[in-house]
Amino acid sequence: MNDTVDVARVRADTPAVSNIVHLNNAGAGLMPMPVLDAVKQHLDLEVTSGGYEAARMQAGAHDGVYASLARLIGADADEIALLENATDAWQRAFYAIPFASGDRILTVRAEYAANYVAFLQMAQRTGCSIEVIPDDSSGATDVEALARMIDGRVKLIAVTWIPTNGGLMNPAAEIGRIARANGIPYLLDACQAVGQLPVNVDELGCDFLSATGRKFLRGPRGTGFLYVRRTQLAGMEPAWIDHFGAPWTAPGTYELRSDARRFETWESSIALHLGLGAAAEYALDIGLDAIAARAFALADHLRSELAKLPDVEMRDAGDVQCAIVSFSNKNRRADELARYLGTRAINVSVSIPSSTLLDAEARGLPPLVRVSPHYYNTQDEIDALVAALREFK
Ligand SMILES: Cc1ncc(COP(=O)(O)O)c(C=O)c1O
Repeated sequence: MNDTVDVARVRADTPAVSNIVHLNNAGAGLMPMPVLDAVKQHLDLEVTSGGYEAARMQAGAHDGVYASLARLIGADADEIALLENATDAWQRAFYAIPFASGDRILTVRAEYAANYVAFLQMAQRTGCSIEVIPDDSSGATDVEALARMIDGRVKLIAVTWIPTNGGLMNPAAEIGRIARANGIPYLLDACQAVGQLPVNVDELGCDFLSATGRKFLRGPRGTGFLYVRRTQLAGMEPAWIDHFGAPWTAPGTYELRSDARRFETWESSIALHLGLGAAAEYALDIGLDAIAARAFALADHLRSELAKLPDVEMRDAGDVQCAIVSFSNKNRRADELARYLGTRAINVSVSIPSSTLLDAEARGLPPLVRVSPHYYNTQDEIDALVAALREFK
């Protein structure tokens, strides 16, 4: 395979690859050793020095986490808030927007369930409407249709870039150009994108971007982050605050922090944050172009091999597809297949219709087997998965 990832090195950093074939990076990637070391070292420091004292000692390294994440997405450190997961990050931005009756939220067919139920709640509370931008013939969001939907009542464009249920990559940057041209806030769910491919918030034109640590970025579970464009920050009041995000400056007043950390609260895991920062540095060190090239090539190889199997139906939408591969089998349930692969020490996951309900209904999708290779996987591992499926009786 023609790529520039030092596969021997990244596999040496990932000890589990000698025991398992991990093809569930869209669920949770395997942490490389530098990530684990960063977490463990800080926990050790807490044990030997005390939690607050350890945090003080690592204050510089902790600041560095914001800088690393900012570098990863082309932002500035003061535009980043560290949160517990992508949903947490997304919600902080979404619920800070003052929706009112008559406002329109434009979203996509493959929007993630957690986001969509929040739209529904907001619609019930305020009388705003949710409108789904149609797809083009490939199954990706139709940018021209979006352009036709714009009017003065569009309060937010909220888009899942790469959905949880397959290889589709929505045209996030083209959507961003329309949002920018019309001055409409743009909230991008980049949960499955960060760590899988290059991400640049200026090229994307998004105002808010939510991401998780544990998936393609290979950070620890329980980590995520929110990007908020500085120009949005000024007038933005989080839906809930504490004395960290909004210091209590006089008995009757508080003052919001000027940076994106107004969306944080005081207590959090410094150890996990440091692990997240190490994951960002690890990915940057390899290079996001090289990561994407290798992960996408492995996924393409997988797609072409799966397509040769009898009874397999490939389910990835879009003309350009990423490293999430989804399929179903005419005679076998997805959970049966995933369980069977698990007995062969091959990790995949199942994507259920309710996680992308509109898309599942529109395309008549059953539960899907979701296979998500990453740059540390090998073609042999992909072939092992395909061989195991062939042997399944
Ligand atoms: C597209 C997408 N958005 C958001 C999420 C939620 O991420 P988290 O579990 O970190 O909140 C997921 C998780 O699978 C996802 O696939």
